[in-house]
Amino acid sequence: MALNLFSFTLYAYLIASFSPLLGSAGYQSITPAERICKPGPPLKASLEKTNCLVIGDSISIGYTPWVTEMLGDKYQVQHAPWDVIDGGALDSKYGLQCLDMFLQTSTLEPTTYDVIIFNFGMHDINYSGNFPEEYVQPDEYTENLRSITSILLSTGAKVGYVLTTPVPYNVTLNDRAKHYNSLADAVMKTFPTVVTADLYSWVTDVCGEPPYKSCVIAQKQPSPHYTQPGYKYLSLRVTDLVLDLVRGVDQNNHYPRPQQIARENPVPCKDKSAKVVTVCPYNSTCCDSLFSATGKGCCLRNSEAVPCKDGKHCCPAGYECESSCSIYKCSCLKALVTPEK
Ligand SMILES: *[C@@H]1O[C@H](CO)[C@@H](O)[C@H](O)[C@H]1NC(C)=O
Ligand SMILES: *[C@@H]1O[C@H](CO)[C@@H](O)[C@H](O)[C@H]1NC(C)=O
Ligand SMILES: *[C@@H]1O[C@H](CO)[C@@H](O)[C@H](O)[C@H]1NC(C)=O
Repeated sequence: MALNLFSFTLYAYLIASFSPLLGSAGYQSITPAERICKPGPPLKASLEKTNCLVIGDSISIGYTPWVTEMLGDKYQVQHAPWDVIDGGALDSKYGLQCLDMFLQTSTLEPTTYDVIIFNFGMHDINYSGNFPEEYVQPDEYTENLRSITSILLSTGAKVGYVLTTPVPYNVTLNDRAKHYNSLADAVMKTFPTVVTADLYSWVTDVCGEPPYKSCVIAQKQPSPHYTQPGYKYLSLRVTDLVLDLVRGVDQNNHYPRPQQIARENPVPCKDKSAKVVTVCPYNSTCCDSLFSATGKGCCLRNSEAVPCKDGKHCCPAGYECESSCSIYKCSCLKALVTPEK
């Protein structure tokens, strides 16, 4: 991280010092791009059912349908963000940035949950090495989890945390996952009502401790993902966590407080047929979002942000996306016109 900042600064410095060579429009400043927030799930709270929200990455995207099946039709289970193909809530930094959106519906209607379970970790530890912006240092991870947990509890929902699953193919990364799990566990212990499920041990009970080259529930290595029977196996432990929390839901006051966020002057995002599929908060910009189930997401930084072609990043007004922008990383450049002498 420090190295990256240093090279950004150095780059900006070099560009700035050679700007006369670039003519009247020299790039003067460079800033990391913002990641577009994917919207929350589609459905408002059901009045008849117990409403559950699962916040997490591709692994929770994988087990949520099985949790839904296992809980049956007295429950309405949804995943935030509304992403069915990719990394979902990614790392804790992204989660905190986008949490207000995750807690509303995809069209920013206020909604409520009886139970919210969540996980961050796999993306925070640099599991693939391809997404440098996802890496979150241990101290920041702890702080992010603390903030996220407080916000989730403030909605009135019962909150559960799911420990991060192993990294089968790399012991260094797996040790990091274990370390981050111990940090998460310590944070959760400071919130007496939060219940934690150890999904790490649930997996190693079957696969053993990493490294392993294959496991009956895991996808082909190297991968942190599971087969469908594997996700079904994970959902057993997660369903148990939900049922544990539901026992604490006051059935007479089954409908918790709605989360309050600024909803005045929202920004509608329309699809090709002009249907509003996502709504962005006031002062944000609607952008195409590659991994959002609605195809749209929000650049929260300001109202005239610049969407990047990769469908994942955006730049503040006045900047442009670097030409090498990709889903892996992206920076923003600011062209400053220097007056000709
Ligand atoms: C993340 O992983 C990549 C590839 O292994 C590595 O080059 C990079 O330095 C790592 N970043 C951190 C912060 O560990
Ligand atoms: C495991 O991950 C670490 C940290 O990203 C990296 O430095 C190392 O090269 C990886 N080891 C293997 C065997 O891939
Ligand atoms: C809207 O965004 C702009 C630019 O980021 C900021 O200066 C302004 O204070 C914001 N307005 C409100 C009401 O948040």
